[in-house]
Amino acid sequence: TVLVMDFGGQYSQLIARRIRECGVYCEIVPFNTPLEKLRAMQPKGIVFSGGPNSVYADGAPRCDAGVFALGVPVLGICYGMQLTTYLLGGKVAHADSREYGSTRLFIDERAGIFAEITAETQVWMSHGDYITELPPGFAVTAHTNSSPVAAMADAARGIFGVQFHPEVVHTPEGMKMLRNFLFNVCGLKGDWDMGSFVDQAVAAIRAKVGGKQVLCALSGGVDSSVAAVLVHRAVGDQLTCVFVNHGFLRKGEPEQVVKTFRDGFHINLVYVDATERFMNRLRGVLDPEQKRKIIGEEFIRVFEAEAAKLGDIDFLVQGTLYPDVIESGTATAAVIKSHHNVGGLPEDMKFQLVEPLRDLFKDEVRALGREINLPEDIVWRQPFPGPGLAIRIIGEVTEERLDILREADAIVYQEIKIAGLYRKVWQSFAVLPAMKSVGVMGDERTYAYTIGLRVVASEDGMTADWVRLPYEVLDVISRRIVNEVTGVNRVVYDVTSKPPSTIEWE
Ligand code: XMP
Repeated sequence: TVLVMDFGGQYSQLIARRIRECGVYCEIVPFNTPLEKLRAMQPKGIVFSGGPNSVYADGAPRCDAGVFALGVPVLGICYGMQLTTYLLGGKVAHADSREYGSTRLFIDERAGIFAEITAETQVWMSHGDYITELPPGFAVTAHTNSSPVAAMADAARGIFGVQFHPEVVHTPEGMKMLRNFLFNVCGLKGDWDMGSFVDQAVAAIRAKVGGKQVLCALSGGVDSSVAAVLVHRAVGDQLTCVFVNHGFLRKGEPEQVVKTFRDGFHINLVYVDATERFMNRLRGVLDPEQKRKIIGEEFIRVFEAEAAKLGDIDFLVQGTLYPDVIESGTATAAVIKSHHNVGGLPEDMKFQLVEPLRDLFKDEVRALGREINLPEDIVWRQPFPGPGLAIRIIGEVTEERLDILREADAIVYQEIKIAGLYRKVWQSFAVLPAMKSVGVMGDERTYAYTIGLRVVASEDGMTADWVRLPYEVLDVISRRIVNEVTGVNRVVYDVTSKPPSTIEWE
């Protein structure tokens, strides 16, 4: 195990992920983890993450200096290097100007973590403090034009510090440096993989849950699906999944979820078709926020009712991923849209949480999904909003409009898949604006709905750009929708990015 001590930097999880990419198991621990606990975890290496600006600031996160006496190699990154300096008796000062961005690094000693690294290499800097006096026993191992100490090492003790960020892609040789640390310095092998993650996760779930009962709200998305299968592996029939169909799912989706989990994985699955309930509550509702709110509340009600029928439940499975953890941790001010995480937990329910995916990024969850034999359709499913098609129908949700959107959306799905783009884009879907326009079919004048096509590229859903779809793909989607979906006579393509638009239309 390698431990990443988290000093509050935005990159802690990225460091952990890079270490996993090197084939080394890794856990993140808070900076104030007691020394005894660290020792008991028997780490083979410790990495200090970046963090806030100054080690001298009030409330600056600091760990026990005893970490350096554990006899385990340590790599301090950015703030982690300044903290190492501070704790071991060196000096750190505030620089007049920040060093930020891609910077040329001159390596003074091509050994240790810099073994076989190009003598002059590019690295990513982002710091306002710098080291003015090395701690005893340390030597400078690299510098830049503005930082005399861009890296340092006490090779004898296996303690290293770098002022830059090896974990980001803007440091092209960063992975090589991390591998040097893990393999050469810590003596690790790099034989850990997703299979080992499954074993570890299963063991951890078993230890936590014991003989108790577990409940999981299954949405059919990749996160909750992977989490459910993992928990099922760990505790079998102690797990019950509840799948609430609110009636706003895509074509064929409810059937597929039931088939996969009930027939494929033999998981106890309670399927609730609550379509009518939701439709009744949405009648006459036009406002997007109102729709989201109603769906969110109703979902919780249905879910609670089902949970109550099951009797004593102690644990609730959540498919929380690392990016969700950051998002909910940073209380961002403005509510752009209330993202009711439908499938999320009612606040006053007395469950303990089981969150086996908390440390993972989306692509790692997909790799995990493949490892546990989830069908490709689920592993590669694009993100889908909790309130589903209801927020892709502008204005009132009616059965007629739902049918139209569902059929159009299925065509978009098929054609994007045929074009080989389904996995490449972030999302591709149809929306139904609240408008009709005039058309002509045969000799007849028509007055029918327009379908909006939305295909976006994104890394995390926070920003997005519209995808430059080939004209041929646009053409076939448009023709098929107008020909095959009754009630539609026009298709338009949404060519706005986020911001200023959002991905969904409501
Ligand atoms: P927007 O429309 O805000 O969407 O640009 C960003 C991403 O979030 C998804 N989304 C939701 N996900 N519950 C969810 O779980 C919701 O209520 C919700 N609304 C939007 C959206 O599909 C996109 O990927």
